Amino acid sequence: MTRRSAELLRFRTAALLAGVLALTTSCGWSLWDSPMTTVRPASDFGRWIDEIFMLISWTTLVIFIAVEGLLLYCCWRFRDRPGAPLPKQTHGHTPLEISWTVAFAVVLLIIGIPTIRIIFKTQEAPAASALRVDVAGHQWWWEFRYPGLNITTANEVHLPIGQPVAFALHAPDVIHSFWIPGLGGKRDVVPHRVNHIIMTPERPGEYYGQCAEYCGTSHANMRFRAIVQTKDEFEQWVKAQQAEPVESKDALAQQGKEVFGKSACVGCHSISGVSAGQIGPNLTHFASRHTFAGSLMPTTPENLVKWIQNPDHMKPGALMPNLGMTGDQSKALTAYLLSLK
Ligand code: CUA
Repeated sequence: MTRRSAELLRFRTAALLAGVLALTTSCGWSLWDSPMTTVRPASDFGRWIDEIFMLISWTTLVIFIAVEGLLLYCCWRFRDRPGAPLPKQTHGHTPLEISWTVAFAVVLLIIGIPTIRIIFKTQEAPAASALRVDVAGHQWWWEFRYPGLNITTANEVHLPIGQPVAFALHAPDVIHSFWIPGLGGKRDVVPHRVNHIIMTPERPGEYYGQCAEYCGTSHANMRFRAIVQTKDEFEQWVKAQQAEPVESKDALAQQGKEVFGKSACVGCHSISGVSAGQIGPNLTHFASRHTFAGSLMPTTPENLVKWIQNPDHMKPGALMPNLGMTGDQSKALTAYLLSLK
């Protein structure tokens, strides 16, 4: 090797190492900070998954070091030297073959046993004290019903801290997957059957959820949020959701209510005391939610007007049709929806 090519090789190796370092450290930070991280679990379920993740990571690290160490040692020990005899090929070594078969079976058991245990543990029959939430995965939004509290909402599920929650998951249309990375999961949401997740949230906060099974055009737009609150905050939210929406005195909102009542909106959406549609999200307390349309957009007047005028543009494939509302009708409807606190 010439001096120049040796220098080039050294430079390339250094650049490669620097690249790997930059990549791994930046991954480390985003793992910790990202809103959908799984390495800062905020529930018992999340902690258990994190423990299995760490168990697998450390086990594989030990295996990696042992195998690579042995490989490097052999490369060095049996390297080609001038005058050394040619290596003798060996065929078949029963003790060696049995030992590496058994070793990998043991590794699989170490990983498999706790994994299967957690899968079953998180879908046992819930305790009587558990909060039941029925989840429906629709193309492309999430419906949350609290049968014990008589609340129906969409895309934002409120949970109290420290109380077990029993999610019952079903799908009216196609297969979806329910996943709140910060709280644990994921679990398939399948038509014609009910799957369960039992977990206890442990830290207040807003956790992003995401459909994790391809379910059509707007699969990636099928998001939701889990809002974990203190007991008091949750009680307040429950009271507000159970109350009838307050009739707004605002003239534009009144006009919007009229537009709503006379249009096809009523066929799909429920508003307590106004309409009884069941196909789309319940809008009784629409304005209490920070986001809408599969938690895709913040609930702002601008977004609402755009949504009403062209849902398909905001969420491709959206099943809500463009009803051909005029600009004035959309603005009135927006004012009405935003009055539904
Ligand atoms: Cu629902 Cu992907």
